[in-house]
Amino acid sequence: MGVLYENFIRSIFFKMSPEVAHERGRQALMTLSRVSLACRLLRKGLLVEEDNPVQLFGLEFKNRVGLAAGMDKDGEFPRAVEALGFGHSEVGTVTPNGQPGNPEPRLFRYPEDKGLVNRMGFNNRGAMAMHDRLAKQYPKGKRGMPVGINIGKAKLTPLEHAVEDYLTGFRVLADQADYFTVNISSPNTEGLRELQGAHYLRTLLGALQEENTKLARKMGRDRHPMLLKIAPDLSFREIDAILEVLLELGYDGVIATNTTITRPANFSGETVGGWSGGAFMRERSNGVIKYIHRATEGRLPIVGVGGVDSPESAGEKMDAGASLVQLYTGWVYRGPSLACEIAKALKAHGENWV
Ligand SMILES: Cc1cc2nc3c(=O)[nH]c(=O)nc-3n(C[C@H](O)[C@H](O)[C@H](O)COP(=O)(O)O)c2cc1C
Repeated sequence: MGVLYENFIRSIFFKMSPEVAHERGRQALMTLSRVSLACRLLRKGLLVEEDNPVQLFGLEFKNRVGLAAGMDKDGEFPRAVEALGFGHSEVGTVTPNGQPGNPEPRLFRYPEDKGLVNRMGFNNRGAMAMHDRLAKQYPKGKRGMPVGINIGKAKLTPLEHAVEDYLTGFRVLADQADYFTVNISSPNTEGLRELQGAHYLRTLLGALQEENTKLARKMGRDRHPMLLKIAPDLSFREIDAILEVLLELGYDGVIATNTTITRPANFSGETVGGWSGGAFMRERSNGVIKYIHRATEGRLPIVGVGGVDSPESAGEKMDAGASLVQLYTGWVYRGPSLACEIAKALKAHGENWV
C-alpha cells in the first residue's frame, strides 16, 4: 500500500492545495469510519499487536504508534484510524465552542525537507460537537484503542481566563476521553505558549488536576490520565520548571513535541506558523525527549512526536526515551500503511529501548 501511495496517490493529493488535500483525506477517512465491515477487515490486516500490550497511564496500548493531534480535530474518524493499524489516536485540539481558525492559506508543503508549515489556529467545531461524534461512533463505549482528547483555549479568550476554557473542555469531554492532553504549545494561537511559563502553568495544571480528582471521587473511578504537550523551542531551564510542576501535581506524562517556530537552514518559505516533519523536526523533538528522560530518570512517561516517518525514525524516539510515538506529517508523505510498518518494526525490535 505504501508504494502505491508514494508513487501514485500522493501525486494526486499533491496537485491539490494542502488544505483541499486534507479535506479530501478527511472525507475519505470519515467514509471509511462508517463502514464497519471495511474497518474490521482492514484492522485484521494492518493491526500489529505487541506480544505484551504496552501498559501506560493505566491504559493498554496494542502497539506503540499513535496518530498525533491536529489530523482529526473533531473526533470524526477514530474508527478509521483504528482500522489503519494505529494503537491510539489523539483528537483535537478542541476548544469550548467552535471557531474557524486562521484565514487561508494556512497550510504549506515543503517536500524537499519532508515538512509542512501550518498556522491553522485551532479550527474546530467545539467540545460538545466532538462529544456527540465520539459518543455516536462508539455507542457501547467500547473502543479498540485508547482515544486521547487534546484540549486548548479559544483564540478570543484572554490568557487570564484560559483556565476556564481548559476546564470546560475537560468537563464536557470527560466521559469520552481515555486520556487528556493539555495543549499549551501550539504556536498559532497568540500568547498560548506563554502558558508554559511558571506564572500560569501551576495554576492551570493544578486546577485541571483538582477537577480531575473531584470527578473521579464523584464517579467512584480512577482519575483520567493527564498529559502535557510541550513545544520543542523551550530552553532546558524552562523544561526543568515544567517537569517540576508535572511531577509535583501527579501528571501522567508529557508529549514531546509540538511543531517548531524555527526553520531548516537556508529555508525561504513561510515564516509564520509551526514547522513539522522531516529530519529537522525530528532532531528538535529528539533533543527534548532525551533531556526529559535524563532529567526525570525515566519517571515521567514520554510520548515522542516529531518527524516520525519510518521505522528508523520511530526507533530513534524510543532510544531517546519515549514509550509511545505519534506521527502526523509522516502520514502525509508516506501514506496510510505507515503505522503498520512502524508498529511491526518496533515489535520486532523488542522492548529493550534506552
Ligand atoms: C496541519 C497540522 C495541524 C496540527 N494541529 C495540532 C493541534 O490542533 N493540536 C496539537 O496539539 N498539535 C497539532 N499539530 C502538531 C502535531 O500533533 C505534531 O505535534 C507535530 O506536527 C510534530 O509531529 P510530525 O512531525 O509527525 O508532524 C498539528 C500539526 C499539523 C501539521
